[in-house]
Amino acid sequence: MVKVRKVVIPAAGWGTRFLPVTKVVPKEALPLIDRPVIHYAVEEAVASGIEQVILVSSQNKRAVEDYFDRSFELEAILDAKGDAERAEELRRLASLAEITTIRQKEQLGLGHAVLTAKNVVGNEPFAVILPDDIIEAATPALRQLLTVFERNGRSVVAVKPVPPEDVSRWGIIDGRRADDGTYALRRLVEKPSVADAPSNMAIIGRYVFTPEIFEELERVTPGAIGEIQLTDGMNALAGSQGFDALEFQGEHLDAGTPLGLIKASVTMALRRPDTALEMRRWLREQSASLDE
Ligand code: G1P
Repeated sequence: MVKVRKVVIPAAGWGTRFLPVTKVVPKEALPLIDRPVIHYAVEEAVASGIEQVILVSSQNKRAVEDYFDRSFELEAILDAKGDAERAEELRRLASLAEITTIRQKEQLGLGHAVLTAKNVVGNEPFAVILPDDIIEAATPALRQLLTVFERNGRSVVAVKPVPPEDVSRWGIIDGRRADDGTYALRRLVEKPSVADAPSNMAIIGRYVFTPEIFEELERVTPGAIGEIQLTDGMNALAGSQGFDALEFQGEHLDAGTPLGLIKASVTMALRRPDTALEMRRWLREQSASLDE
């Protein structure tokens, strides 16, 4: 079995759901406590055994690229102040993974963003992480998918159950469930209405693809607003090679909307040892004042 060494992280979108702040700060650079949202995607990839991160970027995303670069000046300042811990953290960050940045010159959809990485990925299986979807898990979610890929040799996507009223916000799968939490996919439907949804299992942003996804994406005809949907390429691949879905173990935090990011921040603050106590105390106080 070929080892999956590369992950593609699409980070070229306009971030319209976060306007106006995304006029000046890329969505992927917005903070979840003290780290930009994209940090969690890269950490998860590295913890899953990925060696190379291919960042699909666009104009005005320098903050994201700079974040994973070295800052000798800042390190020297921290060293001089005797703050070895923070200096070390910055060095670790800059050597986390080999990061390759490519530009998506036009934002023509998620499928197009993945297709932009074709030449850098080459003819090998690869992973995709959507940085908006943060997954807290004992075994990293991408690692869980890779285990299924290593066993079955087919592309894999992460799914989770959502309430029926939420199906129209996600890609939804139709498949046959096995005892181990995997599904053999029949088809995928992008953001269906409740009436058209074949299930309530939603695609969450973790994928492992065989390289044939690129050929399928090249054949996809752009939809109504000129976008190439990743889901269309996945449907074609499900037909030609088979495709699995995995209901992953872990907690999904949606950092893709302002309210989602606030909730994700609170959830994380309740987990982190340096913030948990004060966060609990403050939440109790808030909830008491709401009841008044
Ligand atoms: C994209 C995909 C969708 C998937 C979602 C996961 O949608 O098109 O199938 O369920 O990511 O986050 P977006 O959130 O970009 O609208």
